[in-house]
Amino acid sequence: MSTGPWTAWRDRPDLLLQKLWDELARGAYDATAACHWPTLATVEDGEPRARTVVLREVNREARLLICQVDNRSPKVAQIEQQPIAEWVFHDLAARWQLRARGATRIHRDDDLADRRWAETPAPGRAMYLAPHAPGTPLPGPEVNLPDNIDLRTLTLAETEAGRANFCVLATTVTDFDLYDLDPAGHVRHRWTWNGQGWDGCWIAS
Ligand SMILES: Cc1cc2nc3c(=O)[nH]c(=O)nc-3n(C[C@H](O)[C@H](O)[C@H](O)COP(=O)(O)O)c2cc1C
Repeated sequence: MSTGPWTAWRDRPDLLLQKLWDELARGAYDATAACHWPTLATVEDGEPRARTVVLREVNREARLLICQVDNRSPKVAQIEQQPIAEWVFHDLAARWQLRARGATRIHRDDDLADRRWAETPAPGRAMYLAPHAPGTPLPGPEVNLPDNIDLRTLTLAETEAGRANFCVLATTVTDFDLYDLDPAGHVRHRWTWNGQGWDGCWIAS
C-alpha cells in the first residue's frame, strides 16, 4: 500500500506542485525541515561542482530559490561563468527527492542583497568577515575568522565590514523533478515552466 506524503495528490499534480512549494517555503525558515539543507550544483569549465547550502528564502510567485554566499567563493565565479544552477532537496524520512533547476543571478548591491543582509543576525554575518577567500590554502587547521572575534558578543555594527563579501544567489526555477520513493513502486513527475504556467507530466522512475 502507498504511504508517501505525495500519494494523495497523484490525481492532482497541479496541487502537488503547490504542496511542494509549501515544503520549500517551510524549508526557508525551519531548520528542522529537510528542505532547509539542499545541495546546490553549478558548472565550472563543463565539470560539475556541488555543495550544501542553507535555503534562506523562497518566492513562489517569482519562482525563486535563494541562498547566501561569500562573494569570493568559487561558486560565485562559476555562476558568473555559467549562470545556471540545480538544487537538490532530499527528505530522507518522507522518502522523496526534488530537483529544481534554472537561471541563477548573483545579487551583490541591490535591494534583495541589502534586505537579506539586514535580516542576517550577527553570528550569521561573522563568516563574511573571513580574512581569507573561501578555498585559500592555509598552513594548518585555522578557523577563517578575524583574530579575537567573540561570536557570543559580536554586535551588528562590528559585522558591517562583512557586507562587502556577502552576496545572494537566486535561481528562477524553470524545471522541477519530483522522485517519490514508494514501497509500492517509485513514482516521478516533472514540471517545466512554459513562460506563463507549469507544464507537468509523469515520467518513468
Ligand atoms: C550544513 C551546511 C550548510 C552550509 N550552508 C552554506 C551556505 O548557506 N552558503 C555557503 O556559501 N556555504 C555553505 N556551506 C559550505 C558549502 O557547502 C561549501 O563547502 C562552501 O561554501 C564552499 O563552496 P564552493 O567552494 O563550491 O564555493 C554549508 C556547509 C554545510 C555543511
